[in-house]
Amino acid sequence: SMNTTRNARGEVEIAGVGVEEIKERFGTPTFVIDEEDFRSRARLFRDTFERAFAPLAGVDMSYAGKAFLSTAVARWVREERLGLDVCSGGELAIALRGGSDATRLTFHGNNKSGAELTYAIEAGVGRIVIDSLEEIDRVNVIAEAKGVHQRVLLRVTSGVEAHTHEFISTAHEDQKFGISIATGEALEAIRRVEAASVLTLDGLHSHIGSQIFDTNGFEVAARRVLALAKEGRDAIGRPLPHIVLGGGFGVMYTTQNTPRTAGQLAEQLAAIVDSSCRALDLEVPRLGFEPGRAIAGPSTQTLYTVGTLKDVELGAGQKRLYVSIDGGMSDNIRTALYDADYSCLLSSRTSAVEPRVVRIVGKHCESGDIVVKDEYLPGDVKRGDLVSVPVTGAYCYALASNYNSALKPAVVSVKDGTVTEMIRRETLEDLLARDLG
Ligand code: LLP
Repeated sequence: SMNTTRNARGEVEIAGVGVEEIKERFGTPTFVIDEEDFRSRARLFRDTFERAFAPLAGVDMSYAGKAFLSTAVARWVREERLGLDVCSGGELAIALRGGSDATRLTFHGNNKSGAELTYAIEAGVGRIVIDSLEEIDRVNVIAEAKGVHQRVLLRVTSGVEAHTHEFISTAHEDQKFGISIATGEALEAIRRVEAASVLTLDGLHSHIGSQIFDTNGFEVAARRVLALAKEGRDAIGRPLPHIVLGGGFGVMYTTQNTPRTAGQLAEQLAAIVDSSCRALDLEVPRLGFEPGRAIAGPSTQTLYTVGTLKDVELGAGQKRLYVSIDGGMSDNIRTALYDADYSCLLSSRTSAVEPRVVRIVGKHCESGDIVVKDEYLPGDVKRGDLVSVPVTGAYCYALASNYNSALKPAVVSVKDGTVTEMIRRETLEDLLARDLG
């Protein structure tokens, strides 16, 4: 995991760069990505999954750009030889600017606009994931007008209840994604794509949710999707070559979480696919996975500066120290939105003072603006100290907002003792530029 140590001054260094230097040069809040950590995790998923699926029909690994995407990240992903998933015209533009090979891009989304579909088809994206019956015709019409034969996947819903937060669970019946297997619509979609003039059905896609620790959900989904693949094969008279089982692998935010290693996941998933295909008497298709969080999350920490401190009476002699930092729900909304757990550490110095329970809160006008609900920090934590919140590489910058007209933070990468600015901090000029008066 992240290459973090304390130097002789007691200050945290990430990949050989001290947090004070990062603050000095880029200010706070700043997202600090350990480039080698991100890359090695991408490689680890590719290598372990390729090894586990080699005895079957192989596997294609992609990074889900929604977790965090910038042009540098698109380049890292290409250099580590993973595909890249995008889910909007904006992500597609970043991927292309970052030098992604369009044929290794997959375009997702439950409500792609005509402009986005046209952009994706013109750019030559490898695959479009069709998310509804009506989208089959929309994609076919645009591709035909452009004279393009487009490969597509069908996003199907298996009815699986992934054991994760309701808002990030995506395969049960009563939600907006995909085409239902249970109602027969998914089989109907297979027939319709096959009949469409310029679409090539590459296979099926399923994504059950995110921050999942239990492989049971994947097992049930795989069985149902593979059973559909068999019905589909019989309906159209040829096997469906690819099955993508999405992302969703959980990461360790606090010691409460116990994720499986990439190697364990790869082996378990390969065994699940192998046994499901045997049970169905189905030729094993080529698999695909698209982790986002598990690659990006642990690579990053957010660096904040401590401001106001407030000791709040809880009654019965109890107190809680509220430590305000210079960001908050505008750069990490996950605590407020999903009741997510984070940890934090005092990163600018060490202290021998007894730790006490603190709550890390932001600067926004909401009492729910909490980044870390409960953590121990040295009792002498004070204004001007730097606090780091680890595992913020996924769905933090990606979900950042301008709430209270906050300026979006800088994102930097560190590697071998040097810092590179990846996304510059937003300025007041940026903020005012689009306000036309
Ligand atoms: N593939 C598809 C089709 C997806 O919808 C997602 C995530 C992924 C892959 C990547 O999933 P991951 O490996 O990162 O779990 N904002 C929420 C997470 C939303 C996930 C959306 N889809 C959060 O902060 O927890």
